[in-house]
Amino acid sequence: MKILIIGGGGREHAIAWKAAQSPKAEKIYCAPGNAGIASVAECVDIPVMDFDAQVKFAKENGIDLVVVAPDDPLAAGAVDAMEAAGIRAFGPRKNAAILEGSKAFSKDLMKKYGIPTAAYETFDTPEAALAYLETAPVPIVLKADGLALGKGVLICNTREEARAGVKTLMLDKQFGSAGDRIVIEQFMTGREVSVLTFVDGKTVRVMTSAQDHKRAKDGDQGLNTGGMGTFSPSPFYTDEIDAYCREHIYQPTVDAMRAEGREFKGVIFFGLMLTADGPKVLEYNARFGDPETQVVLPRMKNDIVDVFEACIDGTLDRIDLQFDDNAAVCVVLASDGYPEHYEKGFAISGLDAFREREGYYVFHAGSRFGADGQIVTNGGRVLGVTALGSTLKEARKNAYAATEWIRFDNKYMRHDIGKAIDEA
Ligand code: GLY
Repeated sequence: MKILIIGGGGREHAIAWKAAQSPKAEKIYCAPGNAGIASVAECVDIPVMDFDAQVKFAKENGIDLVVVAPDDPLAAGAVDAMEAAGIRAFGPRKNAAILEGSKAFSKDLMKKYGIPTAAYETFDTPEAALAYLETAPVPIVLKADGLALGKGVLICNTREEARAGVKTLMLDKQFGSAGDRIVIEQFMTGREVSVLTFVDGKTVRVMTSAQDHKRAKDGDQGLNTGGMGTFSPSPFYTDEIDAYCREHIYQPTVDAMRAEGREFKGVIFFGLMLTADGPKVLEYNARFGDPETQVVLPRMKNDIVDVFEACIDGTLDRIDLQFDDNAAVCVVLASDGYPEHYEKGFAISGLDAFREREGYYVFHAGSRFGADGQIVTNGGRVLGVTALGSTLKEARKNAYAATEWIRFDNKYMRHDIGKAIDEA
């Protein structure tokens, strides 16, 4: 089977690495990929939003399965474009990817179907939003309705901050048309957990849990990033919580999408808050999370190509999804200055150290080949260093040890990934 993966970050590297282990995978391509992905797939220079070029490539190269990983192409209809050309594709169609593509849609869905989430109001004008804020309790959360590179959520501790947030999103248009409409919602407190699930339109299969660290600096300080590290499983996501979420959140969401005529096939990522009143949905994503995927897939026992096909064919009920009884920690090595200003193009050394070592992985988020063939930094997030362990503590010790094997100028990382493990 020839497989084309759309995307070029750490998530796509983890997916390509996992797919490469399938006996069904005869050849894997990745568009556009990166220097790390090139070790498991042939990278083709096609942008993630160029559907015409992707379809042309897929037809010319006899691609049997396309896996669309990032949110933007999914929301814009990448899967629909493939299907229209008669090519099998894994991921939600455009009418289902709206689950992530519009915060107002997802909040309305949860309200309509009684899925636990924070109370909210939706606003189409800054005047109405500002008037609401006069009496709304703080802290309060502002969310741009559309996709905003994961940065369209503002947690405002004061009314002043909230007013400034409305200006940023709706007047200054920091995230473009994503801020034409905003959702203002109640601030929730508790532990955050990420739960990824495979969905075939009606059946949902739950992967192991994980937790992300979104802020740039130790102690959850600094700016929001695409994620500075993850661990899996979350010790706070108990069997009891899992049972509750399956009954009240996961299956109801899949059923609600089908009832709305928006059958969802692909991955639903449930961003949960474990509040004193029980688990509630913080957000939905219509795709694998990053860097969650970098700790979840190394623990997955199944052939991922079988699971992709089952999601497309509506036969997920025949898949017994299994994970190793171990733990994984991923520490992101970033360029100093990320997520604001940073330099690129520095030579990376030490990557070979991962080759012979079982249970250690280096997934590339932002790398490319330099002029002399040497791999160099090419992004804010550069590498995800993942290690397994029999316990979370062991996995964390192993992951931080492995971060020392890698060298590049301006290397930056958080030193407290998985600190919550000690509180469990
Ligand atoms: N780790 C959060 C995300 O993938 O959006």
